[in-house]
Amino acid sequence: MQQPIRIAPSILSADFARLGEEVRAIDAAGADWIHIDVMDGHFVPNITIGPAVVKALRPHSAKPFDVHLMIAPVDPFIEAFAEAGADCITVHPESGPHLHRTIQTIKALGKRAGVVLNPATPVEAVEHVIDLIDLVLVMSVNPGFGGQKFLSSQLRKIEALRHRIDLSGRAIDLQVDGGVDAMTAPQAIAAGADALVAGTAAFTGGQERYAENIRTLRAG
Ligand code: DX5
Ligand code: ZN
Repeated sequence: MQQPIRIAPSILSADFARLGEEVRAIDAAGADWIHIDVMDGHFVPNITIGPAVVKALRPHSAKPFDVHLMIAPVDPFIEAFAEAGADCITVHPESGPHLHRTIQTIKALGKRAGVVLNPATPVEAVEHVIDLIDLVLVMSVNPGFGGQKFLSSQLRKIEALRHRIDLSGRAIDLQVDGGVDAMTAPQAIAAGADALVAGTAAFTGGQERYAENIRTLRAG
């Protein structure tokens, strides 16, 4: 069943020179989760932040830290992100040899586990782990950068996953990430998404705009 819409601003679009203040501002503006994009310059063609930054940000918000790992191999770093303060850890099936084992590792650390599907990765990638996971993330851009155009081809995938999640009977979050804005958020919600990641659309216009930006996305 589609749950109430949760907004997860991606701090990739925040001012990196003032990251703690930005996290406090987006939290106060009504963010449900803080989305943290971790990139290694290997799995994706960009480098962002590591566990030390997640740890440094932890005291700045009590909201769940939604950590999206775009690193390979992913397994050696799961524990460090869990200890740094991640609440949900989301991994790509392509980022390690044994997705099932990676999910078991995340769950054994007491964290929520998510699986993220790249635009070309089929829905079937989650089929045999659906009973273990807490979140499925559909990439509506190729991972690596903020500010890209929403791929509407992914709406059909969101619909298929909505159906599959409902069939499971479990309260698995269905999240979408990439190019989510005032135009595309309603399309994603109509397709069945109930958690929206937004970088550019959340952080645009300076801190006095953040609350309005989040309200607009949530309204769908
Ligand atoms: C892309 C990241 C996204 C990105 C979204 O690899 O996973 O979370 O920050 O940024 P926008 O909303 O600008 O597309
Ligand atoms: Zn992301």
